[in-house]
Amino acid sequence: MKFYKGIIAMITTAILSSGAFAAEKSIVIYFSHTGENYSVGVIKEGNTAKVAKEIARQTGASIWEIKEAEAYPVKYDECINRAKKELQAKARPAFVGTAPDLAAYDTIYLGYPNWWGSAPMVVYSFLDKAKADGKRILPFCTHEGSGLGSTASKLAKAYPNAKIEQKGLAIRGATAQKDAKTVQQNVAEWLKSLGIKGE
Ligand SMILES: Cc1cc2nc3c(=O)[nH]c(=O)nc-3n(C[C@H](O)[C@H](O)[C@H](O)COP(=O)(O)O)c2cc1C
Repeated sequence: MKFYKGIIAMITTAILSSGAFAAEKSIVIYFSHTGENYSVGVIKEGNTAKVAKEIARQTGASIWEIKEAEAYPVKYDECINRAKKELQAKARPAFVGTAPDLAAYDTIYLGYPNWWGSAPMVVYSFLDKAKADGKRILPFCTHEGSGLGSTASKLAKAYPNAKIEQKGLAIRGATAQKDAKTVQQNVAEWLKSLGIKGE
């Protein structure tokens, strides 16, 4: 009897330490721009940042912001000019700090504003460095009419080894900035549609 109990204890320890039953770990990684905005004036907290924080709140995920090293202009016109140049040049603007090690996470919620029908190039800078192969990446964006557009399909093309979900969440920037209740509902519905247990 003692022998069998010892065997069972050994097997239990092996299974637990293998991480087979470890809780799913997720992280929200986002880029968001403050300053003069297309439809909501000058903002201190970006539209995408608001959605990112709501996703983290509902899922309990960690959160990390992609911050460009050379700040995008506060003035809207200047910002769109620089963004357009970066897109055309397929630039990889530097970001601040060290990207989190994705090996520690199963699911990555990736947020950004729709800029010229694409995720901003600094998001690509992040993905170039992050080891995203095999990772489940769930994109979300804010926009002012274009929705998710082809932002997610472009990411999937650029990072074919990452599992980039095409059923991304898109919320209007003005809604994200001003209507926390709708953001909460949209996030909850999206998570449910993906089979993710939220709050
Ligand atoms: C450089 C730039 C390009 C943009 N391009 C688009 C676009 O192609 N389609 C669209 O619907 N909105 C576009 N927008 C509007 C933003 O997607 C929208 O305001 C978004 O909510 C900003 O999010 P943020 O505050 O997190 O940066 C653009 C804004 C900027 C600054």
